[in-house]
Amino acid sequence: MKCRRCQIPAVIKLPRHNTAFCRDCFEDYLHNQVLKAISANKMFKKDEAILVAVSGGKDSLALWHILNKLGYQTVGLYLNLGIGSYSELSQERTETFAKGRGLELIVQNYRKTYGLGIVEIAKESARPPCSACGTMKRHHFNRIAMEKGFSVVATGHNLDDEASRLFGNLLNWQRPYLEKQSPTLSDNGGKWARKVKPLYRLPEREMAAYAILNRIDYILEECPKSKGAKMFVYKEALNKLEIASPGRKLAFYLGFLKEKAQLFPSRIEENPNTCGECGQPCQDETCGYCRLVARVKTKVMS
Ligand code: AMP
Ligand code: FES
Ligand code: ZN
Repeated sequence: MKCRRCQIPAVIKLPRHNTAFCRDCFEDYLHNQVLKAISANKMFKKDEAILVAVSGGKDSLALWHILNKLGYQTVGLYLNLGIGSYSELSQERTETFAKGRGLELIVQNYRKTYGLGIVEIAKESARPPCSACGTMKRHHFNRIAMEKGFSVVATGHNLDDEASRLFGNLLNWQRPYLEKQSPTLSDNGGKWARKVKPLYRLPEREMAAYAILNRIDYILEECPKSKGAKMFVYKEALNKLEIASPGRKLAFYLGFLKEKAQLFPSRIEENPNTCGECGQPCQDETCGYCRLVARVKTKVMS
């Protein structure tokens, strides 16, 4: 197998593009996919500082690596959710990555802030762990971005994450979630940071190959609380379709982005109010995060 561009031995075959690349051409191709995502969705400009949310996994560490290689100014943000050895190891991987490259990393530790980890917080608030976790993460991404003066937060969601989420939202006809799904989430009129997903064109397999070729030491394990999640079933189904018809996953997701404006023409402002407790944009008087924390405090104190 030879590289399609320069004819030297290839390191990766890309059936969806009916091609194969050597290391340098693969890197070039992958960086171009990221640049394409950034410009097509007006994610950020060269002079904007980016807060990169890093979990210690391959996608977010590779994203941080790519943005630096491409000359963007970045600072990492790691949230230690307090899930035993999984959190300790993922923090260690993230810190080693940052230190080795002289990059700034902000760390927030839930056990230090709340005296509880996410599993206990979810239990006390009677919410499934992943749902409580999502609410908490969104709040902290936004809070830290605003406090430190970042207008944009980048996450490592890849094509498999986005296509499987779309698949799940369609299977369950979750119209509000379909309306919201996008590679760039609005900054609510400057009231909070823009959320962007520069890896949405790249599947998990290509991101794993990139991380390995660039010797990025990442945590292999998934969060122990995500075991049995429906998302894995959707990812598996899409992978089967991709094998039968290479390129289907990206076409499915890009097709949705293209049709979205017509499907949902009258999109209303998502978060018109300001939370009376924490000041973040929200739908009602108090945001989901503040309601969750209040519930936990009441339970723990009673
Ligand atoms: P996940 O929801 O675990 O698939 O993660 C999606 C993205 O959210 C990752 O690629 C990261 O950018 C971000 N993320 C997840 N967990 C954390 C964390 N503990 N700290 C900071 N960012 C995170
Ligand atoms: Fe949030 Fe697992 S519960 S990452
Ligand atoms: Zn609030």
